[in-house]
Amino acid sequence: MKRSPDGLAPIVTLDRRLAKPLHRQLYDGLRDAILEGRLRPGQRLPATRTLARDLRVSRLPVVAAFEQLVDEGYVISRVGAGTFVSSAFPGHRGSRIGVGSSPAADASTTPRSHRRRLPRSPLATLDEPWLERWGPFRVGQPTVDAVDARAWGRLVAWHARRMPERLHAYGDPMGYRPLREALAHYLGTARSVRCDAEQIMITSGSQQGLTVTAHALLEPGDEVWCEEPGYRGARDALLLRGARPVPVPVADDGLDVTAGIARHPQARAAYVTPSHQYPLGVVMSAPCRLRLLDWARRRGAWVIEDDYDSEYRYDAQPIAALQALDADQRVVYVGTLSKVLFPALRLGYLVIPRDLVARFRRVRDAVDIFPPPLHQAALHDFIRNGHLTRHIRRMTAVYAERRRALVEAIRRELGESVRIVGDRAGLHLTLMLPPGADDRDVAVRAAGRGVSVTPLSSCYAGRRRQPGLVLGYAAAPREEIAAAVRELGSVIGA
Ligand SMILES: Cc1ncc(COP(=O)(O)O)c(C=O)c1O
Repeated sequence: MKRSPDGLAPIVTLDRRLAKPLHRQLYDGLRDAILEGRLRPGQRLPATRTLARDLRVSRLPVVAAFEQLVDEGYVISRVGAGTFVSSAFPGHRGSRIGVGSSPAADASTTPRSHRRRLPRSPLATLDEPWLERWGPFRVGQPTVDAVDARAWGRLVAWHARRMPERLHAYGDPMGYRPLREALAHYLGTARSVRCDAEQIMITSGSQQGLTVTAHALLEPGDEVWCEEPGYRGARDALLLRGARPVPVPVADDGLDVTAGIARHPQARAAYVTPSHQYPLGVVMSAPCRLRLLDWARRRGAWVIEDDYDSEYRYDAQPIAALQALDADQRVVYVGTLSKVLFPALRLGYLVIPRDLVARFRRVRDAVDIFPPPLHQAALHDFIRNGHLTRHIRRMTAVYAERRRALVEAIRRELGESVRIVGDRAGLHLTLMLPPGADDRDVAVRAAGRGVSVTPLSSCYAGRRRQPGLVLGYAAAPREEIAAAVRELGSVIGA
C-alpha cells in the first residue's frame, strides 16, 4: 500500500501479478479515487517522479496514466505548478460511476435517494407464474414446425448471400417496398382491406405497430376505449405513450359502443379485435362495426383494428376486416405474421390512412429508423411464390382438427362444469368457469402439471372479472390434447 506524499490516505495500489498493465492499473486507481471523491476537485497530485518512486515502478507507466487522465479531463496539468484534479469535475463522494465496475456493484452502491428518483413506470409489474413452464395450450403460439422450413431457410440464405449493396444501407422507415406491395395485394384479396403499398408500414410485430400508432395519434392523457376483457399488449402500448386505456365491456356482438359513449364520451380512439376478440373470441357484428365507425366519424376519433389471427376461421369464410367498411379513413389496421408464421419472426404491418402516412413515417424514424431488410426480402418471396397462402390453407385444416379434438375432450372430461366460448375462429378458445372460481390458482396448478392455460381474469383491467381459462390449441399436438384436458380436469375438480 502506498501513501500520497502529503500523508493523505493511500490513493492507489499496483499488483504486478495482474495481466492488466501497470499504467492501466494506475489510471483506473486514480480515476476511481477522483470519482469517489477521495481525490477532491482542485487537489494537487504528487509529481510523476515521486509517485513512481513511492510505487517502485519506472516513470513510464505513471506518465502514461497521467497523460490519459489529462486527455479525458479528469486532471489538468499546469506547467511549472503540477497536476491537479479538475475543479470543473464534481466530487462524487460515495457514488461510483466507475468504468469497469460491474452493474451489480453500481446498483448496490447507488444511494437509495438516487434510485428513488426514477420516474414511476406506467407499466404494471408482471405477475404471471403460469407462464413459467411450457406445455400444451400456451396462448398465442402457432405450430412452428409446420412452416415449410426448407423453403423459408432457402429464401433467407439466398437473400443473406445476395442482398444488393443498397439494402445494406439505411432504408425507408416504411419498409421494403416489394414486400409492402405483396402485402397490399394479399390484404386486398384475403382480408378485403382497401389500401395500396404507400399506406403499408412494416413493423416489428403488431406490438411495434401499436406503439407507433399510439405515438402518432395520441397525446398523453387521451382516453382510449379498450375491450374488457382485452389484450394487455395493446394497453401497454397506450400506457407507454401516457394515454389512458379505459375499459369498455365486450357484448355478444363485440365492443359495447353504447356503453363506451355513455362512460367515456371524450375518448380519442378505440382499440378492437373485431375478427376474433381477444380473449373471448366474439366476432364483431356488422351493425356493431357500423356503430363504431359512425362514432369515430362523428367524434373525429380513431379506430385501431388489431386483426391478429383472422386468417383462421373454421366453419365459414374469414370475415372481412373492419377497415373495409371505413369510408372516412378513421381506421388504422394492425396485422402480424406472428400467428400465420411464427412470433420470433417479429414482422407485422400497419395500414395507415393515406393522409397520416407522413406522420407515422416520422414517428417510425424516431423509433428504430427502419426495419431490417433480410427477413422482409425473404418474406416477400415467400408470399410471391405462393408459400404463405399454401401454408395458411394447410394450417387451417390442421388447426380445425386440433380444435375439434379439444372441444370433444373438453365435453368429455369437463362436461357441464365449463362453457366454451369463442371457438369458431382463431387459435384459442375460452372456458368460462363458474362464478367465484379462482382461475389464477387453476392456471398455476395446471402449469405445475405441464399444462399452460391463461386465467381469463388476467385479461381484465378493471375489478369486475369473470373467471375462465384461455386455451391456445394451435401448438398442441393432436395426440397430446386428450391427456392434457384430463390433467386440467383433475386440477379444476380438485
Ligand atoms: C390480440 C393480439 N394482438 C396481437 C398479438 C401479436 O403480437 P405480435 O405481432 O407483436 O407478436 C397477439 C399475440 O398473442 C394478440 O393476442
